Amino acid sequence: MVRVAAVGDIHLGPDCRGLLRPSFETLPQCADVLLLAGDLTRHGTVAEAEVVAEEVRDLGVPVVAVLGNHDYHSEQETDVARVLSDAGVTVLEGESVVLPVAGGHVGIAGTKGFCGGFAGRSAGEFGEREMKDFVLATRRGADGLRRALTELSTDGCGARIALTHFAPVPDTLAGEPVEIYPFLGSYLLAEAIDESGADLAVHGHAHLGTEHGMTAAGVRVRNVAQPVIRRAFALYHLPLTRTAPGPDHTGPTSEAAGAARTPG
Ligand SMILES: [Fe+2]
Ligand SMILES: [Fe+2]
Repeated sequence: MVRVAAVGDIHLGPDCRGLLRPSFETLPQCADVLLLAGDLTRHGTVAEAEVVAEEVRDLGVPVVAVLGNHDYHSEQETDVARVLSDAGVTVLEGESVVLPVAGGHVGIAGTKGFCGGFAGRSAGEFGEREMKDFVLATRRGADGLRRALTELSTDGCGARIALTHFAPVPDTLAGEPVEIYPFLGSYLLAEAIDESGADLAVHGHAHLGTEHGMTAAGVRVRNVAQPVIRRAFALYHLPLTRTAPGPDHTGPTSEAAGAARTPG
């Protein structure tokens, strides 16, 4: 088994230095990896990224992150990613990483993703240049995830995880106003996951959403936005045996609460 801790939307700023650190310091006892599903800062500044960096530096478990839309707000996303990388965080954007864990390897493919909406109610590449650019950004995110997951499929990983900020399915948006679903995720992310195969998909962004969902092919989806999970991190246990994507996919075998609850 690989024990995966995950949280997104921690939205840290200078006034919450050290807030998550006590909970994160319990990770070596309960998890093999910590996934951060974006929106780690409030406005995407370097100062805020430095707060995040201190929360996760030298935790004793590998930390893998994607950025969220808030982390792009000040157009300093490259610097935000660098600050996190300097603290030992692997920041993924259309990329993958393979980590050794007891008994095998776990592969993580990550991208921020983007808006766009869900099947039958999504933005289309028609009309104005602005709309085509919008859909292009959606496709670019999904293509990056597909490429990263496909890389993992040849790496002999015992478990594969898709890590995004935006949601791949509408299930985990339940609780959000339906009017904003097109701004919370894209079905193209789920298509990439189902075509390439994964054992778990983790995302954030939908603060009012629901933790549990599933893709059409049966890959389990978890919304780990901190206001949703209402704790420092969620824990998912995955079997370290390759399972094919599809309706019979087994997915995580157990889930448990993380350590301490922290404000969302
Ligand atoms: Fe957020
Ligand atoms: Fe977000």
